[in-house]
Amino acid sequence: MSKWQIKVPGSTANLGPGFDSIGLGLSLYLTLDVTLQNEWEFVHIGEHVPTDTTVETHLIYTIAQQVAAQYNTNLKPCKVEMTSELPLARGLGSSAAAIVAGIELANLLGGLNLSIQDKLNISSQIEGHPDNATASVLGGLTISSMDEQGIVDTLHIPEVDAAFVVFIPNFELKTADSRGVLPQDFNRGYAVRASANANMLAASLIAKDYVRTGHYMEQDLFHEPFRAQLIPNYSEIRSAAKQAGAYGTALSGAGPTLISIIPTAIQEQFLTAMNAQFPEHRIVLTQADAIGSCVVAYEQKH
Ligand code: HSE
Repeated sequence: MSKWQIKVPGSTANLGPGFDSIGLGLSLYLTLDVTLQNEWEFVHIGEHVPTDTTVETHLIYTIAQQVAAQYNTNLKPCKVEMTSELPLARGLGSSAAAIVAGIELANLLGGLNLSIQDKLNISSQIEGHPDNATASVLGGLTISSMDEQGIVDTLHIPEVDAAFVVFIPNFELKTADSRGVLPQDFNRGYAVRASANANMLAASLIAKDYVRTGHYMEQDLFHEPFRAQLIPNYSEIRSAAKQAGAYGTALSGAGPTLISIIPTAIQEQFLTAMNAQFPEHRIVLTQADAIGSCVVAYEQKH
């Protein structure tokens, strides 16, 4: 076999108060078509891909080589043709998807036989927190904790019976800048309230009570009160979405995208209403990805 496709879902992180812990794989994908050849080469196709294709500094290449070095393996060179439905630096997990793609590439070319647990640990360690990374590995809903040794424990719920709508503004917001506005510390009373809201969000998701899920998505105290100033139309979108029938709306990861969870029955009318009110945003209907990252081998056709 000398040709494969690696497909990795993007993701939304936090869902409000599930800060750095809760993730959801989305049906928007990063796709790599990989063909063995004598030298490394990256080819970027379509939008949402960086202009620079230099091999040595390519994120996916550096991750793949880092993982190979960790396992004392050399990787066979290949051509990687990359397409993406994940706009960069918008809060839709493009960097976590690239990290997971790099791990899958190393696994494939180096014959590493990585387990799902290995992939969860390595991707979350590189990303620094497990929310987006676990969702890209597993798809569906992931609730995770990473200990000080970098071992990840994830509760995985593959199916989510709701639809999601993302409001993508026309500017980038780097995660580091969006984390830079967060306080270093919270006092105990504040932390207890923030944690109670996160507990209720997780419980509502596990109970598949999406009315309550939507309510608690809008009760975050860990990050959204501090990030809201960076996000144009933050309050307007939340209240318009609620009026149009959304269960609730939160920042997608570090922003600047917002994400609403809505009943599947209202998706068309919801999209129409939101497109009319927020023409500056790209508004995309999506759903939970149920599979996570996957690798498919192709017969080479000549
Ligand atoms: N949980 C992260 C954050 C997601 O909100 O900063 C982005 O990496």
